[in-house]
Amino acid sequence: MNAPSAPTSPSSGAPPLTIPRTLAGQKALVTGANSGIGRAVAIALGQAGADVVVNYIVGEPAAEAVVQEVRRAGVRSFAYQADVSSEEQVDAMFARACAEFGTLDILVNNAGLQRDAPFASMTLAQWNTVIGVNLTGQFLCARAAIREFLRRGVVPSVSCAAGKIICMSSVHQEIPWGGHPNYASSKGGIKLMMESLAQEVAPHHIRVNGIAPGAIRTPINTSAWQTPEAYARLMTLVPYARIGEPEDIARAAVWLASDLSDYVVGTTLFVDGGMTLYPGFATGG
Ligand code: BGC
Repeated sequence: MNAPSAPTSPSSGAPPLTIPRTLAGQKALVTGANSGIGRAVAIALGQAGADVVVNYIVGEPAAEAVVQEVRRAGVRSFAYQADVSSEEQVDAMFARACAEFGTLDILVNNAGLQRDAPFASMTLAQWNTVIGVNLTGQFLCARAAIREFLRRGVVPSVSCAAGKIICMSSVHQEIPWGGHPNYASSKGGIKLMMESLAQEVAPHHIRVNGIAPGAIRTPINTSAWQTPEAYARLMTLVPYARIGEPEDIARAAVWLASDLSDYVVGTTLFVDGGMTLYPGFATGG
C-alpha cells in the first residue's frame, strides 16, 4: 500500500452536508458559542430546528454574528454574556433562557480555554482559570440545566428524553499532555463528572454524554495547524489525514442531542480522526 500524501490545510475540510431538522421545537443553550466549536454547534442546532442561546464571555460582535447566522434557519436566538465559572451569572443566564424560551431541552457545555505552561512554572492563576472555566463551569451549567429538566420532565411531543446535556471534552481526557496539566486535568474531570451525572439522572430520562474532539481548526490551537510545517507535524498524530473542522463536532452534537441517539447514555463520542488510536503504532511497535 502506498503511503497517502499528506493533505495541506487548505485542501482538507468536512464534507458539505445538510443538517436534518431533528431538533424542531427544542430549546438549546451553548456555552462559549461565539467562536470555534461552540459557534459551529450553535449554528447546527439552529439548522436542526432548535432555538439557541448563544453564550459568550468576551466578543459581543462575534456572538451577535452567530445569532444572525442561527436565525437564518428560521429559529429564535439571542446572545447572553456570562462567565460560566460564576455561579450567580450562570443561574441568571438559565433563568433568562427559560423566561425567553419557556424551558430548556439541550445544554451544550462547550466553553473552554487553555493556559499552557510547563508544570514547574505553571502559576496557580493559570491552574485555577482552566479548572474554573472548563470543569467548574460545566458543573454549574449542568446543575442549572438538570434543575429545569427535573422540574419539567418529559414532553413526548418534543423529545422522548427529559433533557440532554453534551459535555465538550477532549482527546486529552485520555491522552496525557505534557505542558498542559491544567487542561488535561480539567478534561479528565469532565469525563468522570459527565459519567457520574449520567448515571444519577438516567432514571429521570435525562441523557448526559460527552464529545471528545481531537485537533479541530479553531482559534484555541492555531499554532498546531497554521503553517505547513506545523500541519505536517500534526498529521503524524491523525490517521484520517486531515484536521477536524468545527462542523465535524457540530454534526456529532446534533445527533447526540436528538432522539436518534435516545439509548446513548453516559458515553464519550471521540470525534478525532483516529487520534486516540495510538498512530505511532501503525508501522511500529
Ligand atoms: C486542544 C487542542 C489540541 C487538541 C489535540 C484539544 O483539546 O484544545 O489545542 O490541538 O486537543 O491535541
